[in-house]
Amino acid sequence: MHLAVDYSGVHFENPFVLASGPPTANADMISRAFDAGWAGAVIKTLILEPVNNLQNRFATIKVGSKIVAFKNIELLSELKPEDWYRDIRTLKKRFPNKIVIGSIMGDAKAEDQWIELARGCQDAGVDLIELNFSCPHGYPDKGKGSAIGQAEEYSSMITGWLKTDSRITVPIIPKLTAAVSDITHIREAVAIAGADGICAINTYPSLMGFDLKTLEPRASVGGNTTPGGYSGPGLKPIALKCVSDLVKNPGLPVMACGGVSSGYDAAEFILLGAPIVQVCTEVMLEGYSVVSKIKTELTEFMGWHGFSTIGDFLGLGNERIRKFAELDRDYAVTACVDLDNCSGCQTCFVSCRDAGYQVIEMRDGFPVVDRAMCRGCSLCFHVCPNNAISMVSTAG
Ligand SMILES: Cc1cc2nc3c(=O)[nH]c(=O)nc-3n(C[C@H](O)[C@H](O)[C@H](O)COP(=O)(O)O)c2cc1C
Repeated sequence: MHLAVDYSGVHFENPFVLASGPPTANADMISRAFDAGWAGAVIKTLILEPVNNLQNRFATIKVGSKIVAFKNIELLSELKPEDWYRDIRTLKKRFPNKIVIGSIMGDAKAEDQWIELARGCQDAGVDLIELNFSCPHGYPDKGKGSAIGQAEEYSSMITGWLKTDSRITVPIIPKLTAAVSDITHIREAVAIAGADGICAINTYPSLMGFDLKTLEPRASVGGNTTPGGYSGPGLKPIALKCVSDLVKNPGLPVMACGGVSSGYDAAEFILLGAPIVQVCTEVMLEGYSVVSKIKTELTEFMGWHGFSTIGDFLGLGNERIRKFAELDRDYAVTACVDLDNCSGCQTCFVSCRDAGYQVIEMRDGFPVVDRAMCRGCSLCFHVCPNNAISMVSTAG
């Protein structure tokens, strides 16, 4: 099986790229990631102004001991651009076949900042450059980050500056935010300005709530907090929706990012049509070696279907994502209980009674579905802790 893919003329040995973030904070770290098997890495975003991070900048939601959602109020790279340029050179020398992607942010109206950073990255040897139009904290207050990605005119203008400067030849990939009313409008704006691809998505604006014992918000910076970026598994459905919207209009290849923690997650983004899949939070939680597990899972998925290359299933699922009105109104299912697996816990009964159609009753301690009256909503199927319920088509 071959996991190699090409994106915007650049060859990746596999689809897995470290997203810009703490795992790409410096060249030593990226070297270890490359040794572990990542095909590429997006460096932590460069900015010309000094970066002083807040302390206590993360908050999480856990289910049991597993982190399912993550919030951060981290700023951009603490390293100076010149230090990064030196490090990019070293990285590319040591790993000529790995892909190093620059990531830059400037002021919305400062063409010179964007050009300086892009040229610096290009001269150092990056293969592609991401434009950070999407960081949701710290920078939008100053008109940068997601403030740019929420404004078609600025997204287009900045992309245009880089694409019309004849000295800049590496592919330019704006990284977009999902926090817009319609991400395809931003896509069109950067496409017209000449973007070579798109990365979607960055973290989503969020608050993680309070510690109810201390009344401190999370993450607490001396007792206060500010909205920050949401990432990790809980972000995946939003990222999938954005990628689906973006690939509907072919032309600009999409790098997917958001909530990937397994090769199965990656398979879903590739099915939608994104050949490259970036990962940040999962690496923060599991380390670089998680890429081996992710590759094994993707290969396993490919084996189930007889796919031997990424191209065999790239975009295969997207035609199944339809407009609401295009779905079959005559398609019908009813709930069916497998009593061999049922523990009689009543969870399905309670959900159907209080949020469904009152078609499940308990008889002799076990649920019985009135299938003639069942409206096929599937709530019972989802709440059953024993996988004892299936939704069965009434057709034929
Ligand atoms: C702590 C943290 C710092 C991040 N810093 C950056 C950054 O400097 N530049 C950037 O483009 N994205 C940054 N991101 C966003 C990630 O690259 C990625 O878009 C987002 O976390 C969603 O992917 P994930 O669910 O795999 O983490 C950061 C994310 C986290 C969690």
